[in-house]
Amino acid sequence: MGDFSVNLENLISDLRRIVGDKWVVTQREFMEGYLRDETPDPVRPRAAEGLILVKPSSAEDVAGILKLANANKVPVFPVGGRTGLVGGSVPIKPGIILSLERMNKIEVDRENIMAVAEAGATLGDLIKAADEAGLFFPPHPGDEGAQIGGLIATNAGGSRAVKYGVMRNYIRGLEIVLPTGEILSLGGKLLKNNTGYDLMQLAIGCEGTLCVITKAVIRLFPKSKVMVTLVVPFNTRSDALKTVPEILRSGVMPLAIEYVQIREIEEAAKHLNERWPVQRGFAQLIMILDGASQEEMLLRCEEISEICESNSAMDIMLAETAEEQSRILRIRSNIYTALKPHMIDILDVTVPPSNLEKLMNEVDVIAAKYDVYLPAYGHAGDGNLHVHIMKEGVTDMRMADRIKSEIYKAAVALGGVITGEHGVGSLRIKDLGLVLSEKHIEIMESIKRIFDPNNILNPNKVLP
Ligand code: LAC
Ligand code: ZN
Repeated sequence: MGDFSVNLENLISDLRRIVGDKWVVTQREFMEGYLRDETPDPVRPRAAEGLILVKPSSAEDVAGILKLANANKVPVFPVGGRTGLVGGSVPIKPGIILSLERMNKIEVDRENIMAVAEAGATLGDLIKAADEAGLFFPPHPGDEGAQIGGLIATNAGGSRAVKYGVMRNYIRGLEIVLPTGEILSLGGKLLKNNTGYDLMQLAIGCEGTLCVITKAVIRLFPKSKVMVTLVVPFNTRSDALKTVPEILRSGVMPLAIEYVQIREIEEAAKHLNERWPVQRGFAQLIMILDGASQEEMLLRCEEISEICESNSAMDIMLAETAEEQSRILRIRSNIYTALKPHMIDILDVTVPPSNLEKLMNEVDVIAAKYDVYLPAYGHAGDGNLHVHIMKEGVTDMRMADRIKSEIYKAAVALGGVITGEHGVGSLRIKDLGLVLSEKHIEIMESIKRIFDPNNILNPNKVLP
């Protein structure tokens, strides 16, 4: 069992000494949920045999585990809420699965409007802690079961990034543990910090390949006084998408400008036993707006409505109660889950927002060429739509790869990238060269060697 030379019994007893007997799991049936993430089944990498699940309770525990693993060249796979979509946290070699779920404390510092959260706390925990302190965490970077460490390691984006940005924009400090076992404290409760190369920014988005994140200082904001959600139906995708840059230019900056199609959003509603409130239009934009007063909010809604109507929008629906708004967001957030059983892969191409309409026209040409339906939805305000390759009509994986590669090339030709949100993980490694130069990848490899000389941390992820 295992590629590594260390005696397995010794490794297990050393791990037990570090975290306590109860927190070292060796029986496969008790680690099932840790062997996969949310990546669609047809493309998800398979977990290796010979895995040990370890649940530390402190950064010191994590340091002890990593020192031990490094000395014995044992691979370590850090996992969070396992909601990723590119196989990033799947343990693909014999080794240690490191779950920080026990490290889940959150303290809110109201004076500095920041939270200090341990890596295993969930997004749901953070939203709740902020709310209880009368504060607000503006983005909504995905599934609320996702954990802070994973959200940061993947620089998660989600649906409310248009106005307030992605995870990276909220992280002010990090505690990390290096694969060689040192604990580093980076940044702090600071709004400005220019002291040296910014290793914190390097850790954010490293997908668990450079270090294990154990704690974070996260910026919060005062609660918006008023928030509304608009659902705007259009007859065509083009009408909806060409409205987006106009809204971005207007000065009314929504928190979110999401694009959905009636067929998939209704499927998501059905999946939740709910009813989607707007039945008209092939394509719809969902916009979330915030403001300081009811009057301000109404003015903003009017301005947005005018822009939408000038692009042939139909009756606009305005949701004002918190309940109705969270229902809309919940249905939107469940499209992926509803489609997943019928899916081969979910793409994450991102282009400059003004090129999104052009990209989707090319996606239509590709769909027609292969005679397949490629459902799309996502973060139109960020130029980031998820195009899906479904099982129906796709005869084999080679055909799926050809479709994928044509979409990637179209996105790159329009100044885009192959992933704006979900990251590289295992799935996107082979296409990295479409976006990054050889030199860029070489520098990434050198950085990886500096942090992780024995290549123990999340090996064979992100890098070729
Ligand atoms: C979403 C996830 C799949 O946008 O990224 O729903
Ligand atoms: Zn998304």
